Amino acid sequence: MPAQPSFARPPLFTWDFAADPYPAYAWLREHEPVHRTTLPSGVEAWLVTRYADARQALADARLSKNPVHHSEQAHRTGRVGIPGERQADLMTHLLNIDPPDHTRLRRLVSKAFTPRRVAAFEPRVQQLTDRLIDDFAARGSADLIHEFAFPLPIYAICDLLGVPAEDQDDLRDWAGAMIRHHGGRRGGVGRAVKNIRAYLLELIHRKRADLGDDLISGLIRAGDHGEHLTENEAAAMAFILLFAGFETTINLIGNGCFALFRHPEQRHLLQDSLRRGESALLETGIEELLRYDGPVELATWRFATSPLTIGGVGIPVGDPVLVVLAAADRDPARFAAENTLDLARADNPHLGFGHGIHYCIGAPLARLEGRSALATLLTRLPDLRLAASPEDLRWRGGLIMRGLRELPVEFTPEK
Ligand code: HEM
Repeated sequence: MPAQPSFARPPLFTWDFAADPYPAYAWLREHEPVHRTTLPSGVEAWLVTRYADARQALADARLSKNPVHHSEQAHRTGRVGIPGERQADLMTHLLNIDPPDHTRLRRLVSKAFTPRRVAAFEPRVQQLTDRLIDDFAARGSADLIHEFAFPLPIYAICDLLGVPAEDQDDLRDWAGAMIRHHGGRRGGVGRAVKNIRAYLLELIHRKRADLGDDLISGLIRAGDHGEHLTENEAAAMAFILLFAGFETTINLIGNGCFALFRHPEQRHLLQDSLRRGESALLETGIEELLRYDGPVELATWRFATSPLTIGGVGIPVGDPVLVVLAAADRDPARFAAENTLDLARADNPHLGFGHGIHYCIGAPLARLEGRSALATLLTRLPDLRLAASPEDLRWRGGLIMRGLRELPVEFTPEK
């Protein structure tokens, strides 16, 4: 049995909570590790905050990803899912389906989205990173979210998918509209999803007639080898590849830079190691930044399809379960000095990319972008610093993601 609360639980989902949710998560982990709460949307859900319970829940086949398993009452209110869900076929993607469909589609995308393809993409990511920094390096100041962290992942994934250069700014605008929804403004998101859907279907159609060596062509080819991949499935796959890796990577760069600004001694260790041409600290450092203040605060929805217990608490059928990755990754039962940022941390099986069959398929690309972004910023702009007081920074209030709305910085201009 969890211990009796020794003091009141800090409030969840308030303004202060968005800026620093970790004290509230520490309280939950200790006193009510499987906690039923009412989300800001009005939906009732269970929050799972301990590392061991989180790992178990992420791999539990009784927890479905398919929203049809959400209990009747909440389903009627239509509060699960993003607006624009009328574009239902786009939503039939990996994060919303279970085996055997998930197994088949994941196998198909794994054939096309290989670690080799990502490794071969490294020079292009470096080029994109440098080009974006070129645009503000002579100025001496920038907003790292809008001018750098936001465009980098969308251009990178567009290139990898094979979206022609002349169309990439449209994708960038539509992606921007979807992100603003997470910030609370709903206007335009339905239109953006509709545009993306029409665009992707048309692009897949064009590619089918003229296959190249891009990822969308790879998906079509993989589907043509005996296994079935409809155009709608290919569009849903392209959609999830575009968007699962978009806000997440923005937050890896934004939260990562912010954490380094707040821990100058760690940042200097990293800069020194980069100066010596070493990559080991950069590699463990990216993992530590994912653990310490990861882009995904809560894993995406799961719904109980049969009664189960998590951490000794019974979860009724139909109830949504949200695994709080940000809380699990600071569980002192798993991580020594859990609240300390230690870029050299060796024992770091963090859950920042999830766990089990839905483990992030884009992890190699995300790591590549994170390494390129941080190493290039710290090397080209060595005295990069925050140009605002940390308390004044605004965090996006979305449920799943954790990230900054803006990150003003200053530095000695590049000549
Ligand atoms: C799944 C995190 C970047 C594509 C996931 C999950 C997490 C995650 C936690 C599992 C969610 C769950 O189980 O509910 C991240 C983080 C990223 C990142 C922290 C950046 C730092 C990317 C990129 C791509 C991508 C760059 C693609 C280009 C996907 C896809 C899934 C997924 C397709 C669903 C996999 C499945 O259901 O089988 N990601 N992700 N992610 N991610 Fe990522």
